[in-house]
Amino acid sequence: MIIAIDGPAASGKGTLARRLAAHFGYSHLDTGLTYRAVAAALLARGLPLGDEEIAIAVARNLDLARLDRDMLSSHEIGEAASRIAVLQGLRDELVALQRNFARHEPGAVLDGRDIGTVVCPQAPVKLYVTAKPEVRARRRTDELLSKGKDADYGEILADLKRRDQRDSNRSVAPLKPAEDAHLLDTSEMDIETAFRAAVDIVDKVQRSK
Ligand code: DC
Repeated sequence: MIIAIDGPAASGKGTLARRLAAHFGYSHLDTGLTYRAVAAALLARGLPLGDEEIAIAVARNLDLARLDRDMLSSHEIGEAASRIAVLQGLRDELVALQRNFARHEPGAVLDGRDIGTVVCPQAPVKLYVTAKPEVRARRRTDELLSKGKDADYGEILADLKRRDQRDSNRSVAPLKPAEDAHLLDTSEMDIETAFRAAVDIVDKVQRSK
């Protein structure tokens, strides 16, 4: 079983993916972390973000088991990840790693921007998770504040909109719902409600097989 989850930044897709994986006993990969890990390695070594060959070489050395969300969560790394994500050769390399991960038994949950459209178009369950930008910015702000970090709602909102623009309008693997994706708008939902809705969708697909 493969569950493909896509959506914009701070839509809640990561939390949903983790909870679904725990519920069904599947492996989970946050594919954003693969882009973030390459970006972080380039930044740490002072290497250019626009050089495809260098980015590919870094991607070849990635160890999926060692991706650490906390070390890769900074705003700077997110921005850099969004910028290198336009490099087609780099994407090919990371997509190969992600497809390999999707073969985990009894199942895998992958979340990102292009899972249902490019990485796993054959996935029996595809979810596209969205929420209004204002709601996403509010959630991200509260999350940062609850961790004792600085957070400015206005800046976060502007930043999310800029990242949505870049991720949706790039020519390679842009962020968009697969034609057969179930849309889950969580603007008016808490995580529990979104989780229940997603479990219902997965259960229905499994019953029909
Ligand atoms: O989900 P995130 O914020 O960790 O992702 C960081 C960037 O990586 C995002 O702005 C675009 C890119 N990305 C991508 O292009 N394709 C994916 N499947 C996941 C992330």
